[in-house]
Amino acid sequence: MKEKIRLENVRKSFGQKVVLDGISFSVYEGEILCILGKSGTGKSVILKHLIGFLNPDSGSIYIDGIEFTHADEKTKEKIRTKFGILFQGAALFDSMNVFDNVAFGLRRIKIPEEEIARIVPEMLAHVGLRGVELKRPSELSGGMQKRVGLARAIALKPEIMLYDEPTTGVDPITAGAVNKLIVYMRNTFAITSIVVTHDIRSALRIADRIVMLHNGKVIAEGSAKDVLANNNPIIRQFVEGKSKLDAHPYAHM
Ligand SMILES: Nc1ncnc2c1ncn2[C@@H]1O[C@H](COP(=O)(O)OP(=O)(O)OP(=O)(O)O)[C@@H](O)[C@H]1O
Ligand SMILES: [Mg+2]
Repeated sequence: MKEKIRLENVRKSFGQKVVLDGISFSVYEGEILCILGKSGTGKSVILKHLIGFLNPDSGSIYIDGIEFTHADEKTKEKIRTKFGILFQGAALFDSMNVFDNVAFGLRRIKIPEEEIARIVPEMLAHVGLRGVELKRPSELSGGMQKRVGLARAIALKPEIMLYDEPTTGVDPITAGAVNKLIVYMRNTFAITSIVVTHDIRSALRIADRIVMLHNGKVIAEGSAKDVLANNNPIIRQFVEGKSKLDAHPYAHM
């Protein structure tokens, strides 16, 4: 399998606080990799490094074999076009209707309006939404807002999708639907997918591989089966203490 992304000994501190303490792992083309870790372990910080919004203090990040952490802004912009992101919370523009939200990125890269009129309903159909183009995000449920966010991201045909806590704060049925969509998107578009989550049940269901973080380090890397068989007490607590992990600061959102 081709290596799409590689992190090598990435370190990042904010002031005195060490968040990433020498992180290394690879992501292979077309796989779904889940990054698991408790709240505050630096999962979102890793995603921000991948899209060049944060620079590591040391270490390297390769995308398609190219190290870009110290590249100029223009190169970083180019790398960003490979990524689609479903943000923690749907991050839709509530001043715009659903159509304009999905069209947003397409208009930025100057896709003609008649093409946009064709693409937007097609993308909404991929996420199981029809006829909601004229609604405002605030009129939709949280699960539907996530679907719109996903439609907006995939409209730009990314090579890599980043999902930041896609199942946090949604009911189990919606979480199941979101998980199915992540797998569907990978299967349909062969998108390399990174799913950041503290939801081990979702990770075990959808991940080809799992990377588990603890205190700024990777404490496990492997298939769901490998993780379930791991005897490290911290990992056991993670696997067995599901209910504890559900007590997440954003769980009410
Ligand atoms: N720009 C920043 N400046 C200072 N500290 C930051 C910054 N970004 C993140 N941090 C700190 O880094 C740590 C990791 O944050 P991060 O958002 O990556 O956690 P997380 O694993 O995504 O947690 P959650 O599951 O709650 O989303 C936190 O302690 C956070 O306060
Ligand atoms: Mg986060």
